Amino acid sequence: MAGRVFITGVAGFLGSHLAEALLMRGFRVSGIDNLLGGCIDNVPQGVDFRVADCNDRSAYSDMVAGTDVVFHCAALAHEGLSVFSPHLINTHGSNASAAVLSAAISKGVKRFVFCSSMARYGANPVPFSEEQEPHPLDPYGISKYASELMLRALSREHGMEFNIAVPHNVIGPRQRYDDPYRNVASIMISRMLAGRQPIIYGDGSQTRCFSFVADVVPSLILLGIDPNIRGEVVNLGPDEQVVTIYELARAIAALLGFELDPIFVTRRPLEVKAAYCSSAKARSLLGYRTTYTLDQGLREMIAWIRGKGARTFRYSYEIEISNSKTPKTWTEQLI
Ligand SMILES: NC(=O)c1ccc[n+]([C@@H]2O[C@H](COP(=O)([O-])OP(=O)(O)OC[C@H]3O[C@@H](n4cnc5c(N)ncnc54)[C@H](O)[C@@H]3O)[C@@H](O)[C@H]2O)c1
Repeated sequence: MAGRVFITGVAGFLGSHLAEALLMRGFRVSGIDNLLGGCIDNVPQGVDFRVADCNDRSAYSDMVAGTDVVFHCAALAHEGLSVFSPHLINTHGSNASAAVLSAAISKGVKRFVFCSSMARYGANPVPFSEEQEPHPLDPYGISKYASELMLRALSREHGMEFNIAVPHNVIGPRQRYDDPYRNVASIMISRMLAGRQPIIYGDGSQTRCFSFVADVVPSLILLGIDPNIRGEVVNLGPDEQVVTIYELARAIAALLGFELDPIFVTRRPLEVKAAYCSSAKARSLLGYRTTYTLDQGLREMIAWIRGKGARTFRYSYEIEISNSKTPKTWTEQLI
C-alpha cells in the first residue's frame, strides 16, 4: 500500500532517513523543516519540501491535505538543554505538536505517528517498558509526554488513528556533529577526530543503549502503515548492548586509535543515570531486529563525519537560565 505521507523535521536526521526509505517504497513524500537543527542537504531528492515552522500552520496546511499519514519528527530534541531553555524546547515540542495535530485533524489525515522519546520514562526502573507509567523529569520529556496526551485525546475525539514511537539514542550518518548540546556519540567522535579529549559529565557510569538509524526506520514505517497496529506506544531500538558513557568513549577511541584520557566535568542537572529500553514489544509487534552492533554503527558515523570534514561547534540556541547549575561547557563554550 503506497500513499501520501507528510513528515515534519524532514531535514533532520531521523526524518530524512524515514523520507528516503518511504520514497524507495513508492510513497509520495512531502515535508517541512524550519532548519533550526536540520540541514537542507539532508532532504532526499523527490521530497516535496518547504521551509516552514510547525507552529505556523498556514505555511503548510495545504501540504497536509490529502495525506494518509503524518509522521511528526520535528523537535529540538535537547533533553539536557531543556533544563536551561524550557521555553525554546517547549515551543518546538508540545506547542509544535499541537499545531501539527490541528493541521492534521482539520485536513482529515488518517493516521498520525508521533516521535516521542525515552525521556518520557524519567527515572523508571530499566529497561523501560511501554507498560510503565511515564514520569518525565525534565521539560523535554514533559513536553513529549504532553504531546502524547494531546495526541491521544484529540485522536480519540476526532477519529484519527495514531501510534507513538519511542526511539532512543539513535546514531548514524546525517546526525549533527557540531551541536554542543546533544548527540553524545557525535560530539565525542568530532572532538577525537580533532585530536581533543572527550568531555564526560559526571563519572561516565550512566548507562545507555545506542540504536543504528537503519534498524529503527523499518519499524517506524510500520507504525505508519500497518492497518492492524493502532493506538500503540512502542520503544524502537536495541536492548542487547547496554554501555556506560565511559565505555562509549572507549569504543570510539579504539576505532579511531585515539589515546583516551577523558575530561570529567560536573554531572548535568536532571540527567537520568540509567536509561535504556526493552525492545520486546518492538520485536513481537513489528519484527524489530538489531542488525548493526554498536561498533558497526559507530564505524558508519565516523566514516560519514570524516567524509564531511571537521566542523566547529555552533552554540546557536539561547540559554534562557544561566546560573550556577548551567554547564560551563555551554556558558563558556568549552566543547
Ligand atoms: N535521534 C534520537 O536519538 C532520538 C531519540 C529519541 C527521540 N527522538 C525524536 O525523534 C525526532 C527526530 O529526532 P532527530 O534526532 O532526527 O533530530 P534532528 O534535530 O536531526 O531533527 C529534527 C528536525 O526538526 C526540525 N525542527 C525543529 N523544530 C521545528 C519546528 N518547530 N518546525 C519545523 N521543523 C522543526 C529541526 O530543524 C530538525 O531538522 C525528534 O522528535 C526527537 O525528539 C530522537
